[in-house]
Amino acid sequence: MSGFHTLTVSSITPEGEAARAIGLAVPAELRSAFHFLPGQYLTLRAEIDGRDIRRSYSICSTPADEELRVGIKQVEGGAFSTFAQTLGVGDRIEVMAPEGRFVAEAGKVRRPLLIAAGSGITPVLSIARALLEADHGSEVTLLYGNRSAAQIMFRETLEALKDRFLDRFNLIHVLSREDQDVDISNGRIDAAKLRLLARKGLIDPGSHDGIYLCGPQAMTEACSAELKAMGVPEDRIRFELFTPADGGTVAPERRAAIVEKAAGDTEVETILDGAKRKFRMNGKQEKVLDAAHRAGIELPFSCAGGMCCTCRCRVAEGRAEMDVNYSLQPWEIEAGFILACQARPTTETLVLDFDAS
Ligand code: FES
Repeated sequence: MSGFHTLTVSSITPEGEAARAIGLAVPAELRSAFHFLPGQYLTLRAEIDGRDIRRSYSICSTPADEELRVGIKQVEGGAFSTFAQTLGVGDRIEVMAPEGRFVAEAGKVRRPLLIAAGSGITPVLSIARALLEADHGSEVTLLYGNRSAAQIMFRETLEALKDRFLDRFNLIHVLSREDQDVDISNGRIDAAKLRLLARKGLIDPGSHDGIYLCGPQAMTEACSAELKAMGVPEDRIRFELFTPADGGTVAPERRAAIVEKAAGDTEVETILDGAKRKFRMNGKQEKVLDAAHRAGIELPFSCAGGMCCTCRCRVAEGRAEMDVNYSLQPWEIEAGFILACQARPTTETLVLDFDAS
């Protein structure tokens, strides 16, 4: 049960088609554990059909709110998102403390450009509300893409924010499958749309002190490349990935090359909360997280797909290769961090430090 706490569902609010915001009450003794920064996420876990299923969901409330809230959109065939539709007020659920580096703190970021698509709005809503409410000098621009008006999550909350902060909150909806009166608001958020909005003076990418992108990989990559081409410094652009463009699959040639390099017998030592545990594994057949699980060692994880970073650890000794990596930044790779859910040892010993920051 390492890292998880039991919280009680305190509210359920429908948000757009097949999505709901789930409120969680945090008891006084867990307040400090659940303190969060706008933009962070929670990992929820449940036993579904006998399996331990975990998913990360961004927090859509702000640190000033009474309850924690996450936005969950039902994904076709998604085990957890389908289960979440059955949750009711009073149900109890296992929740890991907030995590994530896609954050904006009031006072540190004052003029952000937020770009979101679909359920990518959840962390972005927390950032927008937190900055507007806590910093009276902040100005927030939000570009939000959906297929149709019916699919817009948090529509009423966004409209209320617009009414409340008329001079400081610029909200632009972009719909891909429903015509709006203003032509520029039709289509997808991509490089061409950013160029058009900038040309018309509706956004001014160079003037923002932080640009936050949240949505599918194709959108975040196309927009960050265009923003860099427009002269926005790379360190001002942050992104949170919801869906990898390749669906999280590894090209067969790449997997074969990594398996070829992997060691057939490795002694792995993990350091977590100061405790050292050892197990043996065959990197040609399994990855570190699966091998640890088989050995009865619980390591932190959520997506198991290389996206959330919950399993991030630093290689203190030995070497390992990852099948995929959608979340570690280049500087983290340089500093020796890897994702345990994707790592295969390439040496006979491997020491992984989960306490390293
Ligand atoms: S568990 Fe999400 S990246 Fe490894």
